Amino acid sequence: MTAEQLHVELGRRYHFSASHRLHNPQLSGEENCRIYGKCNNPHGHGHNYAVEVRLSGKIDPATGMISNLADLDSFVNEKVIEPFDHRSLNEEVPAFRNAVPTTEILCIEIFRRLKSFPYAKLEAVRVQETTNNSFEFAGE
Ligand code: NI
Repeated sequence: MTAEQLHVELGRRYHFSASHRLHNPQLSGEENCRIYGKCNNPHGHGHNYAVEVRLSGKIDPATGMISNLADLDSFVNEKVIEPFDHRSLNEEVPAFRNAVPTTEILCIEIFRRLKSFPYAKLEAVRVQETTNNSFEFAGE
């Protein structure tokens, strides 16, 4: 088989810092505190998030690449890094006005923002919140 016929995936990591507060307005203060603990503190707290984007596609015989990384970088920067970096997710990202910004929900939101990348198929998005936990979403 030639390289163009083989299935190859491309992964690339990005980073942003943001704050959030885990709070469900439909629950009482006591319930929120019990469920979310210190993550429910009123003024929020920050994380240095790492986002791993995984794509697949045909290798272009002319370039030997699935996608030009510069194209991917500018797409991810425009759709995710610029709108999220150094923001309050709860207050500045409309998708989280009515959704608790857990990393599960964040992961789905990032996938939705990136799935229209024109040069390769988005396979999955993994978001690492701390060194101990990460979440992955591979689409509906
Ligand atoms: Ni947190």
